[in-house]
Amino acid sequence: MSIAPSPKPQGLSLVPFDNLYAPTIAGWVRNDRQLAWLAPSTKPPLTAAKVVGWVRPQGHRLLGAIKATPIPIAYGELNPMKQEPGHLWIGHVVVDPNYRQRGLGRDFVEAICQAGWDDMGADRISLIVFPDNLPAIKCYKKVGFHEVGEEHHAFGHRGPRQRLLRLEIINPLR
Ligand SMILES: CC(C)(COP(=O)(O)OP(=O)(O)OC[C@H]1O[C@@H](n2cnc3c(N)ncnc32)[C@H](O)[C@@H]1OP(=O)(O)O)[C@@H](O)C(=O)NCCC(=O)NCCS
Repeated sequence: MSIAPSPKPQGLSLVPFDNLYAPTIAGWVRNDRQLAWLAPSTKPPLTAAKVVGWVRPQGHRLLGAIKATPIPIAYGELNPMKQEPGHLWIGHVVVDPNYRQRGLGRDFVEAICQAGWDDMGADRISLIVFPDNLPAIKCYKKVGFHEVGEEHHAFGHRGPRQRLLRLEIINPLR
């Protein structure tokens, strides 16, 4: 299954991931707190090799680029939920800090969801987020995600289990 590059609101396009962009993406994470929010299983410092290693079996890695320029400003992953056909999960969403708080995170997540509905036949998309990551929660809720519960996960080097919120969006056309 391939996800077609598609024009998005405000000129944001989804473009396929290339390992070439891994150093750029690693540079978008400016401190350990952001890395903990973005990739709690990844030990600091974030490197290009660690970004390359985020790939999941059957997962899609996507970049968001502003139409006027080919340079990506957002990264995220769309992965199948194990043994749940039609259910996908979004991981590792990050926007270039120079482009945050302009509505592009929202456009990018919206575009990822659209790819899930149109290209992967999803009926439901989930994600998990730390309760104190207010920018991310606000961004996801703007797209239409709503809270469906909480989960507790341990992330190796980060010590005891931590509480995360599970957010979900349903395919509006199903
Ligand atoms: C979360 C993230 C992707 C949001 O990207 P973004 O481009 O800044 O998001 P948007 O501009 O589309 O914001 C969507 C909403 O969230 C709000 N928001 C975004 N950042 C915010 C901040 N730092 N403080 C308060 N509100 C914020 C916006 O104001 C907007 O709401 P509004 O339309 O009412 O104004 C970005 O902050 C990021 O890359 N964070 C680091 C990595 C991370 O935590 N990823 C999420 C892992 S679950």
